[in-house]
Amino acid sequence: MRNGGTLKQHNGKRSRRSDETLKRPNSQTLQRSAVITPVRSGLKLLQCSNVETAWHHNIATFYRSNDPMTKIVTVAARKGGVGKTTIAYELAWLLGAPLVDLEFDDGSATRMWGYRHEARLRAPLLDAIERGTVPRLLIGYHKPELVPCHPDFQLNQPEPEAMADTLTAWAKAWDHDYVIVDTHGGGSPSGDGAIAAADLVIVPTPLKTKDLNATEGMVTEMPDYPLVLVPSMVPKVPGAAEISRIGSIVEGTPITVAEPVPYVRGIETRKKRVAITSEDPTPKANVEFVSAMHSLASYVKAHHNG
Ligand SMILES: Nc1ncnc2c1ncn2[C@@H]1O[C@H](COP(=O)(O)OP(=O)(O)OP(=O)(O)O)[C@@H](O)[C@H]1O
Ligand SMILES: [Mg+2]
Repeated sequence: MRNGGTLKQHNGKRSRRSDETLKRPNSQTLQRSAVITPVRSGLKLLQCSNVETAWHHNIATFYRSNDPMTKIVTVAARKGGVGKTTIAYELAWLLGAPLVDLEFDDGSATRMWGYRHEARLRAPLLDAIERGTVPRLLIGYHKPELVPCHPDFQLNQPEPEAMADTLTAWAKAWDHDYVIVDTHGGGSPSGDGAIAAADLVIVPTPLKTKDLNATEGMVTEMPDYPLVLVPSMVPKVPGAAEISRIGSIVEGTPITVAEPVPYVRGIETRKKRVAITSEDPTPKANVEFVSAMHSLASYVKAHHNG
């Protein structure tokens, strides 16, 4: 595997770390959903004819795929605070996928997971990039396996091409069905690399004017990328104009719109680290959110096998 190449020097504190070991979990069953139908009741969002939706209420037959390649699913957006990390965390848990965290501030999945870089001598992400090794995955109870980020990553992140090569090599080495990559809010060179390496790019988009503007810009710039727009933090009664706008943003492109992820007030102040979708029973307030996450996970599987 090639090194991150353009990696700049980072704080010397972490210079005496031993090599991270390569973990090769057993390959999981790669499954696929046979049918995707635009049949979401309740929220009558996006049921306009010009939107190819990915809504899939009744998960149909699943079967094994012969494709041995690990798929990289990147969660990215041009705007911050749109729900990337929340979706990435849940999706990684549901898909049994390693979560590579490229968000270098403390609003990250790394923090949510309970990893405190202050208490660690090593910075697995930076170490692995610097040395050209594959980072060891952290394992936690009811949380996704994690490659934690570090604040130093902001100034030491690889250029897009090197990041893309690195992620591709890691995905191959881990031998999982999927790898989820969470990116830094508002874009970054490493995030661009994660988009370039992705088999699927999930773009959370609240139905708000500025967020829709940013998503429209992204779609205009990369209509040939495997983007799927995910209306996020959607209120119980979404605005009709915004619903129609997200439809027109993807019109004439192969880009799809997934089932909306509802706004759930409790998520904003949630302290638990376990994935929301891991809780059994699901708290009543989270039922629709959990259903949307399952639907998105099914969409990802179907996308890669369809
Ligand atoms: N479905 C939801 N309902 C309510 N609140 C949500 C939902 N999804 C995320 N949030 C909250 O919105 C805020 C931003 O979410 P999150 O951190 O996932 O966004 P982000 O796009 O990763 O942000 P950043 O650009 O800073 O990385 C957080 O406080 C989070 O708890
Ligand atoms: Mg985030």
